[in-house]
Amino acid sequence: MKKFILMVCATLLLNVFGSKASSSTSQLTSNNDINIIPKPTSVEKQKGKFKLVNANSIYSNTSEGKIIAELFASKLQASTGYDFNFTEKEKTGNISLIMNPKLMYKEDQYKLSVTPKGVSVLAKTPKGLFYGMQSFMQLLPPQVESNILQTNIDWSAPCVTINDEPRFGYRGVMLDPCRHFIPVENVKKQLDVMALFKMNTMHFHLTDDQGWRIEIKKYPKLTEIGSSRIDGEGTEYKGYYTQEEIKDIVKYASDRFITVIPELETPGHELAAISAYPHLSCKGEDTTPRIIWGVEDIVMCPGKEDMFTFLEDVIKEMEPLFPGTYFHIGGDECPKSSWKNCEKCQARIKAENLTADNKHTAEERLQSYVIGRMENILAKYGKKIIGWDEILEGGLSSNATVMSWRGEQGGIEAALQNHDVIMTPGGNGMYLDTYQGDRNNEPVAIGGFTTLEKVYSYNPVPDTLKSMNKEHFVKGVQCNNWSEYMYNTDIMEYRMYPRLLAVSEIAWTDLGNKDYKDFERRINDAQIRLDGHGINYHIPYPEQLNGSCNFVAFTDNVDLEFKTTRPYDMVYTLDGTEPNIRSAKYSGPIKISESKILKIRTLLPSGKMGPTRNITVEKQNLSPASLVKTQGNGLNMKMTMGTYFKSSELDNAKDWKKMNIKELKEIRSQVESSESMRGVEQYSAIATGYINIPEDGVYYFSSENEQVWIDGKLLINNEGEVKRFSRKDSSMALAKGLHEIKVIFLGHIMGGWPSMWNDGSVKIKKAGEKNFAYVTGEQLFY
Ligand code: ACM
Ligand code: ZN
Repeated sequence: MKKFILMVCATLLLNVFGSKASSSTSQLTSNNDINIIPKPTSVEKQKGKFKLVNANSIYSNTSEGKIIAELFASKLQASTGYDFNFTEKEKTGNISLIMNPKLMYKEDQYKLSVTPKGVSVLAKTPKGLFYGMQSFMQLLPPQVESNILQTNIDWSAPCVTINDEPRFGYRGVMLDPCRHFIPVENVKKQLDVMALFKMNTMHFHLTDDQGWRIEIKKYPKLTEIGSSRIDGEGTEYKGYYTQEEIKDIVKYASDRFITVIPELETPGHELAAISAYPHLSCKGEDTTPRIIWGVEDIVMCPGKEDMFTFLEDVIKEMEPLFPGTYFHIGGDECPKSSWKNCEKCQARIKAENLTADNKHTAEERLQSYVIGRMENILAKYGKKIIGWDEILEGGLSSNATVMSWRGEQGGIEAALQNHDVIMTPGGNGMYLDTYQGDRNNEPVAIGGFTTLEKVYSYNPVPDTLKSMNKEHFVKGVQCNNWSEYMYNTDIMEYRMYPRLLAVSEIAWTDLGNKDYKDFERRINDAQIRLDGHGINYHIPYPEQLNGSCNFVAFTDNVDLEFKTTRPYDMVYTLDGTEPNIRSAKYSGPIKISESKILKIRTLLPSGKMGPTRNITVEKQNLSPASLVKTQGNGLNMKMTMGTYFKSSELDNAKDWKKMNIKELKEIRSQVESSESMRGVEQYSAIATGYINIPEDGVYYFSSENEQVWIDGKLLINNEGEVKRFSRKDSSMALAKGLHEIKVIFLGHIMGGWPSMWNDGSVKIKKAGEKNFAYVTGEQLFY
């Protein structure tokens, strides 16, 4: 008999809830129905409840079952405060984990029976027991997931019989610590949540242009040089996992029945490695890890045998750390221009007879040669390769599994060639780095728009494969969490959740058993579980109908109308106080006829609230038009070379060059930008003149430039923002006619995005119009 002692350290107690200033938790409630995510194959509700009490006993008939029982006992103990006794025999009041290898069950299958007298999980494997216990946890009140003692909770579970097994064997989540690092403790936190929702694979993207993140003893410069970059802002960004830390993560995952698949990118996306060992590229040029997003054209040189020696050495150190069968070799987005101009690459093409055919260029066949060599190296260590769908180009190597990301076509082609496939198409909702709400409210993201419902609606088996009896080649599905715009783990979690839960249901639940409305209901319970893990999940913002804007000008009165991307209540105030659970509930357009600050936020059924939107609603007189005599279309502009991060710094700038521009796009096209931005000289510019407003009214403006001023008023100020997807739209009441305009462009790289990659535009629309239009040269005067 063994007693478990509550071991929750004080720091954990402090850290679990509420580090997110933007939201608050109170009055946690959940609906009373069955809330399990992913939805089980069959649930039969029975009469009554099983009540968890102090000193419940736990029994398992196997030593593997006992290990699982211990994991759950310690988890239950943290939130309930109850001790659990381990018994040698099944008895009333037991939680029993029964493993029977002779059962005709699948690996992950389990049966869970909850009666008033006890709980039993039956499975063929430890994994099945683990999933059965996770389902039992989800029958208990959601606060059970907390690491902090929860009081005044009736720890009862409804009586049910559940028979359950997954649709797919591969249920994956990709984490990308290369663009932004994920500390070990946060990786473990994600693993806990993945396990709760029965995900079984963590694809760990460990090497890329922006950072090499795994210690390799034979090549110390990979981490000394390759794991650190000086970002555009001038600050160092670094981080890597030691081999001991990797072992710790892999063990933590394995204890939760999650396999970690490492990714070693080849032959592209390897600028960090090339920075450490320049001879790996065709030209052998000195370089540094990439500080901007996008596709790097300095890639490894397969003309040199050194490249393969290096990769095999790295694999020799990596593969023992990751005991799973699969090893991901990347293969995506490898520009081939350097190979075209490289004598050694061309010699390799010749020697290996990789001539172009009607389907593939010689360089595509060289890429395929690289993947083939990788497959052979990994086969020596008993590993099978997975690659992104570009590995189809130039011919697929014999046992490769294809990860289909550029839509489903790669996956379909691979399955038609009898290759295993993992579906992860971005356009179908499997890229969780996309927006899930109006860009004007959300932290800057890579783009796209993927609602929870869109993710949920994805079916990883395309009809084509089903009709051709090839569906069994689809081994599963994965969501990808590329971290370019996940500047910290709070933002990472904000993007991942709750969408990852929709992926879990796609991966586990049979198509015919899925039901979005029911999932949306169960999410409310699951979100409280996520609170227990301290996850900063997305709560939809109240959004204005034609695009959100936090500065609403009006002349007489204005109706403010809101919606949310998921059906939740919104609460608001007009007296400057923070909206709380008792504030006015939004029930239709809010009519405003005097200047006010409208504060509005979303209220979840749990009582938790989303971040507040502060909207200045300002009564204005029409700003009068200027009677100035203009000389022609366009604007005056002055520019100065150098990198500036604040408009005020331009006061000290010298050597201004003056000119006239016809269109606003010229404000940023004085120097050509490039994909690599290497050698591109930054400059800043100020354009001034007049904008012609066609009729009296309130006008909205949008721009990714640094600042936009109208009639001497700073209307848009993007200072400190990543200059992508303007989040600072604003409005102003303007009389028909000419108005002063000043636009400031600052050339710099902030948050990995060069401002020069924008088009320099200012966009305008009249209040009530749906879409912005570009301000054209004809509307501008100097
Ligand atoms: C990818 O998104 N480049 C696989
Ligand atoms: Zn080369």
